Amino acid sequence: MCGIVGIVSNKSVSASIISALKKLEYRGYDSAGISTLINGQIKEQKCSGRVDNLEKILFQNPSSGDLGIGHVRWATHGVPNQVNAHPHSSEAVSVVHNGIIENSDTLRNEYKDKGYSFKSQTDTEVITIMLTDFLKQNDLINCIHKTLKKLEGSFALGIIFKDYNNLVVGARRGSPLAVGYGHNENFIGSDSYALKSMTNKISYLDDGNFCILYKEKVEFYNSDKKKINKEIFELSYEDNTAEKGDYRDFMSKEINEQSYTTKKCINEYLNTSKNEINILNLPLEAKKIRKIRLIGCGTAYHSCLMAKYWIEEFTSLDVDADIASEFRYRRIKLDPNDLYIFVSQSGETADTLAALEKCKKNNLKTCGIVNVLESSIARNSDLVLPIHAGPEIGVASTKAFIGQLTVLYLLTLKIAIDRKDISSEEYSKLILDLRNIPDLIEETLNKQKDIQEIARDFIKAKGTMYLGRGLSFPIAMEGALKLKELSYIHAEGYAAGEMKHGPLALIEDGMPVIVLAPKDRFYEKTISNMQEVIARGGKVLMITDDTSETMSENIRFKFQIPKTNSSINSFLLTIPIQFLAYHVALLKNCDIDKPRNLAKSVTVE
Ligand code: AGP
Repeated sequence: MCGIVGIVSNKSVSASIISALKKLEYRGYDSAGISTLINGQIKEQKCSGRVDNLEKILFQNPSSGDLGIGHVRWATHGVPNQVNAHPHSSEAVSVVHNGIIENSDTLRNEYKDKGYSFKSQTDTEVITIMLTDFLKQNDLINCIHKTLKKLEGSFALGIIFKDYNNLVVGARRGSPLAVGYGHNENFIGSDSYALKSMTNKISYLDDGNFCILYKEKVEFYNSDKKKINKEIFELSYEDNTAEKGDYRDFMSKEINEQSYTTKKCINEYLNTSKNEINILNLPLEAKKIRKIRLIGCGTAYHSCLMAKYWIEEFTSLDVDADIASEFRYRRIKLDPNDLYIFVSQSGETADTLAALEKCKKNNLKTCGIVNVLESSIARNSDLVLPIHAGPEIGVASTKAFIGQLTVLYLLTLKIAIDRKDISSEEYSKLILDLRNIPDLIEETLNKQKDIQEIARDFIKAKGTMYLGRGLSFPIAMEGALKLKELSYIHAEGYAAGEMKHGPLALIEDGMPVIVLAPKDRFYEKTISNMQEVIARGGKVLMITDDTSETMSENIRFKFQIPKTNSSINSFLLTIPIQFLAYHVALLKNCDIDKPRNLAKSVTVE
């Protein structure tokens, strides 16, 4: 949701802070700011808009100093303007924050009654005021401890103090915070990705922890202000190529990486000589699983929905897919014989993490399918299944989605064969078909120009619908989300069979409609639904592997995907719906990698 960074060093820190903020901009880009300590004074500089705007300000008016904090914001409380930008400073303290303080109104009134005044509309400013007040009667540790105890809600904090010219403080509850170790300098950051250019030695704060960074050491404390030790992880630099290269934007790069992503993921999990899937030590023995529950948000939820169809298709198990923000509050019957699978690219999505914590509190068996190995969801799951997609920077998830589908499909087949729900012959055929998918994705990626042509139909559209049945339905949902979040055009993903129960009323002459119609067992019924749309003036983009001239005179456009096993058409259907959203957004001059109002990792509920 927001990105924070803090550095204490033996040299000027502002350039390193700006560089780290640029890596964190995918988390939020409404406003940016920095505070450093210079000659015993806090110097705060901040602005609305991107980090580039802040950099221009610093060019005119440099912020020197060998310790400081920085922030990029995704607004939760208060409009994205200069006053509400972080850091929030008093004369004694400066604070950057990621999260939501749920008792900020109460605290604001309490401290107003004490005579303090507030400059911003943010929840964060109450932290600044509280620290300032506690500093008057407490040493540093007690000031921090007392402040954190009064806060309700979630936070990752970076703090500097006027009277402590050799340290930076970090604290965490609910929102991630990493600590990086340098040579004569140390760092805090919202995630390790922001620190990777400065160090590969990382520790992680857990909820309730706070830390004090000096340039020569880091001290960690628990919620009882007792000193604790933290494990130091050495991060791999696998796929650290989070640069655009010669692509126009990260999204086009990440779409085009998907053949490699699936190939890499399959290779990571498949022992090709034995044709075995290396998903070992499931937290529940496959034969003993009563039910599988899949939980995620947004695109990750759509991969959960896809897996639900696969698990129903290949196993005898009962299965549910839930949106995390619903699951976490539902009064469902949690069962120790159920396997709870949490899907999340970032591994930090607040609702998904909360849903995981709900299961852990009930001692249930959990599995995390993530792209960030050192994320909170990874570290709190009984079993972690990485998707190995490498850093995904574009806010709209593409290669992570395909990576999630790959791991979920492999997991389904592993459970199915272990439970003897499928024969070894069927298993071998399914694996063989999956191994062909990377090449078929590559073939589909090479047809990008076909989609570019039809994108124009959409730029003036009031809205559109994506229709699919069965295994195509989750991809219809994903296609609609992609178009919404990239081009800001309203789009609905719908079960094609549902159209006649109301949504058909939306169809009017010239309205673009995308119909996902691979030649699977739902094909004929989907074609009937498509005809209902055409009869009412809908202009259909049909995405299919059918090579016949079905309806070709009545449809606006047909995009041909290669033929494959009907259970994995979804991998190929995904490519044109990603390209469609991309090219419509391009034609509308939308910001491809940083769509308005969004952030890459939603770490608040
Ligand atoms: C995907 O295109 C969206 N940006 C969004 O729905 C995302 O999938 C969702 O916020 C979940 O994120 P996660 O996978 O990091 O948990």
